[in-house]
Amino acid sequence: MIAAKRDLLAAAREAAENAYAPYSKYPVGAALAFDDGAIFTGANMENASFGLSLCAETIAVAKAMNDGRRGGLVAVAVVGLNAGNSPITPCGRCRQVLSELAQCGSTDPVVWSASGQGGWEARLSQLLPEAFGPASLR
Ligand code: THU
Repeated sequence: MIAAKRDLLAAAREAAENAYAPYSKYPVGAALAFDDGAIFTGANMENASFGLSLCAETIAVAKAMNDGRRGGLVAVAVVGLNAGNSPITPCGRCRQVLSELAQCGSTDPVVWSASGQGGWEARLSQLLPEAFGPASLR
């Protein structure tokens, strides 16, 4: 059972409350839904050495993979608390990180984002066409 869009966006919004974003003041939450109903969340974690900051999506993937997940990723929700009317889209690095987990299980997750002015959605394969991944190294 795939998590409902509304519920997954709510999980991402809740996760964003734990963001550590004192520099950008742009808290982001991400929620990953799996085909067995499991949900993993993450929030961005910045660093005084700015380049070391980690995005919400990357943290969520790290949590899921460290919990043993290797595929089954069916949906991703991303919410920026201060995103205003401009919906957030995953950065390039996060697209690659999400793609690795998705390719482990040969899924093409839907990516949902929300802002003050409605939402946005796409398949991960649209965000990262011709993705480099595990199969590329075989
Ligand atoms: N950020 C995310 O966590 N996810 C995204 O999809 C885009 C950007 C974070 C990185 C940084 O902490 C802050 O948002 C501003 O770029």
